[in-house]
Amino acid sequence: MLMPLNPVKIRKDFPIFERTVRDGKKLIYLDSGATSQKPFAVIDAEVNFYKFHNAAVHRGAHQLAEEATDAYEGARGLVAGFIGASVDEVIFTKSATESINLLAYAMGNAPRGNRFALSPGDKIVVTEMEHHANLIPWQELSNRTGATLDWFQVNDEGRLDLSTLHAVISPETKVVAITHQSNVLGTINPLDEILKRAHEVGAVVVLDACQSIPHLAVDVSTLGVDFLAFSGHKALGPTGVGILWGKAELLDQLPPFLYGGSMIESVTMTESTWAPSPRKFEAGVPNMAQAVGLGAALEYLQAVGLNAIHKHEIDLTMQLINGLQKIEGVKIFGPTNNIMRGGTVSFAVDQIHPHDLGQYLDSLGIAVRTGHHCAWPLNKKLGVAATTRASFYLYNDSDEVEALLDGVLGAQKYFARFS
Ligand code: ALA
Repeated sequence: MLMPLNPVKIRKDFPIFERTVRDGKKLIYLDSGATSQKPFAVIDAEVNFYKFHNAAVHRGAHQLAEEATDAYEGARGLVAGFIGASVDEVIFTKSATESINLLAYAMGNAPRGNRFALSPGDKIVVTEMEHHANLIPWQELSNRTGATLDWFQVNDEGRLDLSTLHAVISPETKVVAITHQSNVLGTINPLDEILKRAHEVGAVVVLDACQSIPHLAVDVSTLGVDFLAFSGHKALGPTGVGILWGKAELLDQLPPFLYGGSMIESVTMTESTWAPSPRKFEAGVPNMAQAVGLGAALEYLQAVGLNAIHKHEIDLTMQLINGLQKIEGVKIFGPTNNIMRGGTVSFAVDQIHPHDLGQYLDSLGIAVRTGHHCAWPLNKKLGVAATTRASFYLYNDSDEVEALLDGVLGAQKYFARFS
């Protein structure tokens, strides 16, 4: 039995909820899919790193360097514990976008004979529901190597059409890069079938977990994927830090992405050799304070409990979907049941442009995202230029869902005057 969350109490841990917006209105933040708010614990961890421990990690023989290294490596341990990984498999990057670019660029650098080397005739597989961060790096890798880009389509329910599984993931496929949870539709993708087929043909599976890791319990030791990327800022952590996780034996074979200090084993004037992972992929002085902040964020999430967070978000999601379905002229994009979905709901309201709706809701203190949500091809598939998106997190509550529903009704009345 999961203990229900108490969002009113949780909001007290987040300083931003002490402020109001738009002339004294309560902030109703429904845009955590874009970035989450930060608890005191995260802000304090980052500030305290700079105040008390700041020094370049892995260098220097002084006390501060030792403390900074302990804090940074401690954060790596927290990330590893959070996702069920070994510490050497956890690479700090500056964002999930950088994590995926690291992987795609490093694969593009793989020499002939390396297991990641791609050439014409090979295939890279994505899906129509990727946000740009998990699409464009693979487009570029395909352009650089001559490999073909193929993809799974999205069906009318907003789920992947896996009837083409064997044709899309064919023996030529070397990489399958898919999102765990759609940032637009809220769909959680079924991994088992995709993993089975991908591994049958010898492809590696890269999971974009930006929208899942902050909201669901994810354990890479049982998930079966080969690489996984997520960002810190969507998981209560600071901006400027992301994670790339990969299986140790694969990271060993992957060439570096950035070259410079820290990532080397030995250097002469003409050549160098690389340190083992994770250092091979962390050239330069890293984003230490941000990594420490992310560690604090994951500790906070763990203390609240990921299963309780997921259940809370699904309850809010179903409340919103049920409410929207009762409003005439509203179309919901994505699954309308609670099976394999997360707390993101995109919708359109007849006769109201999403940007107008977003502005109207903002005037009530409600922050939603409008636009193509960095997933332009998906929007085209849905047949809309833009949608309005509400995305929930642990600090939202059912009164806020009601406020959003009232806001949609209010917008319909307001904009009817102009039509
Ligand atoms: N992918 C992020 C979002 O969904 C930016 O808002």
